[in-house]
Amino acid sequence: MTVLLLGGTGEARALAAALVAADVDVVSSLAGRVARPALPEGRTRVGGFGGVDGLVAWLRQHRVDAVVDATHPFAATISANAVAACSAAGVPLLRLARPGWGSRPDAATWRWVDDTGEAATVAADLGGGVLLTTGRQGLEAFVPALRDASVVARVVDPPEVALPPSWTVLQDRGPYTLEGETELLRTRGVRVLVTKDSGGALTSAKLDAAAALGVAVVVVRRPDRSGAPSVATVHEAVTWVLTRVTGPR
Ligand SMILES: NC(=O)c1ccc[n+]([C@@H]2O[C@H](COP(=O)([O-])OP(=O)(O)OC[C@H]3O[C@@H](n4cnc5c(N)ncnc54)[C@H](OP(=O)(O)O)[C@@H]3O)[C@@H](O)[C@H]2O)c1
Repeated sequence: MTVLLLGGTGEARALAAALVAADVDVVSSLAGRVARPALPEGRTRVGGFGGVDGLVAWLRQHRVDAVVDATHPFAATISANAVAACSAAGVPLLRLARPGWGSRPDAATWRWVDDTGEAATVAADLGGGVLLTTGRQGLEAFVPALRDASVVARVVDPPEVALPPSWTVLQDRGPYTLEGETELLRTRGVRVLVTKDSGGALTSAKLDAAAALGVAVVVVRRPDRSGAPSVATVHEAVTWVLTRVTGPR
């Protein structure tokens, strides 16, 4: 049995390790966006498939028996492609998505927005120093509203677009600690934190630090994801795959 694991997340790496340990032939797929990606155990491939048709061809050529889409909650295109391609190729698909941060007690105090453009407007209206943690892609959406603001943009790889002189680029990669995030918000004079609803524990310390310091939080809602059954934990995803190997117990 061969499983294609659409990855690029910590959950995907954990699932790859669990499937390798269970003797399942798994191929992890990475988009190739970051310069030095953390590589999962088992076989890997890097780069886009070439849209839905390319993915269908890849599934057929490599005789894939099942696909797990464990990509980031905001990687909406590849997830939609996986739904369409698996349907066309007749391959079962599971979505593994960590829960968002919406059930945290402080979530009710955040400003929830639909996209980065709206996040920029809301952050500008709130005023004061801004910490952007929404990633390198889409940074330009923040420029018009925050051109003259004091902005720290935290990214894994350097941005490809020129940013205003009042902005600072901070290259860093999680996981982050409460102490480190508190220090960052304090020393940079941050009054507004902008984040996507990525979920998970590796990058949530910024939310605790913001709550403790009274920093406003602007959260971009997750894009709609439908078309495949979904689980929230690596354990459930392993069970789903192994059920396909051994049949229901
Ligand atoms: N978006 C985020 O905030 C974020 C954060 C952390 C990690 N990531 C990871 O970074 C990758 C790219 O994210 P994105 O938001 O740019 O994706 P996206 O907008 O959903 O996908 C754009 C295109 O990138 C290719 N692609 C994306 N993920 C791929 C994968 N795992 N394997 C092979 N090709 C992939 C596909 O190209 P083709 O059409 O040519 O197949 C897809 O059409 C994902 O794997 C995701 O898990 C994303």
